[in-house]
Amino acid sequence: MNSNTKFLKATAVSPANIAFIKYWGKRNPKINLPYNNSISMNLSNCITTTTVEYLSNLKSDKITINGKKAEGEQAKRVSDFLGMIRKRYKVKLHAKVVSENNFPTKAGIASSAAGFSALALAATAAAGLKLKTKELSILARIGSGSASRSVIDGFAEWRAGTNSKNSYSYKIADVDHWDILDIVAVVAKEKKKVGSTQGHAAVLTSPYYQARQKELPKRLKDLKKALLAKDFKNFGKLLEEEAVSLHVIATTSKPPVYYWNRVTIDIMKKLIDWREEGVYAYFTMDAGPNVHVICRQKDAKKVNSRLKKIDGVLFTIVNTPAVGTRLSDIHLF
Ligand code: DP6
Repeated sequence: MNSNTKFLKATAVSPANIAFIKYWGKRNPKINLPYNNSISMNLSNCITTTTVEYLSNLKSDKITINGKKAEGEQAKRVSDFLGMIRKRYKVKLHAKVVSENNFPTKAGIASSAAGFSALALAATAAAGLKLKTKELSILARIGSGSASRSVIDGFAEWRAGTNSKNSYSYKIADVDHWDILDIVAVVAKEKKKVGSTQGHAAVLTSPYYQARQKELPKRLKDLKKALLAKDFKNFGKLLEEEAVSLHVIATTSKPPVYYWNRVTIDIMKKLIDWREEGVYAYFTMDAGPNVHVICRQKDAKKVNSRLKKIDGVLFTIVNTPAVGTRLSDIHLF
């Protein structure tokens, strides 16, 4: 990019994703290389839009997230990522960055996956670069591991790989493969006390981490098979096993991290009861108390209205499978 160029601007739109098989533990934290493969679905109603413009009059990056000037750790993480892009692609200018989430900011869903995948595309496109999907997935991964999966349409598998070049996500099924939904039951508004980055760093202190790694290849293979065959009951069983496995590691790491609250557990138990009545929905949780309830389209209305009635559920967000990171003509400034 020529440093005399004054206005180089691009906007990207990107979804958060829910992990069916989780990324939990990093082989190399500097470049977010995971210990294991993971599988996810993109979420249609948890979207980040980010506009990046390189400006010759800026001495540092100017970052606004959800209407507020980014500060401290948050600003540093974004700026370090932009710095890495500048170095890698020989971009000379600093950038103005404005980023907005379409989901309520108070929902406790701080999605680094949506954020860093949108930023990776907007920052490279604004520099006049046109990255291939694989390259974009690698770049987004360096910002936040789970962001590597948001780049891909529909359902993605992130291949752990052994180095930065072979750790990226690819599509295992398209958006319209299966009419399952993720209804997020939001149960807490406050920002979580322990972020996922700290959780990743502690995994080896859990005596159960090796056992998890040992059982994962089979669970991953079986879950992928159930997903491709649209075998919902088997899929749901494996989904819940996997969610609990992550939280076993978190709660047995040193120091332990308890991401759930009492409403989380209440919802988990209710889903088990509903299944006995023939209403099929299954839970999964990432590093937080909100419950991602996976059900089929035909049961969605019933499941959603039941969830909303549970004491402590603040609201729900209904998501279909969604396309991955895209450019947009509608800039935020
Ligand atoms: C529990 O991708 O947020 O959601 O790479 O440090 O940014 P960093 O971590 P992040 O970890 C996500 C953890 C998870 C499981 C998952 O999404 O696979």
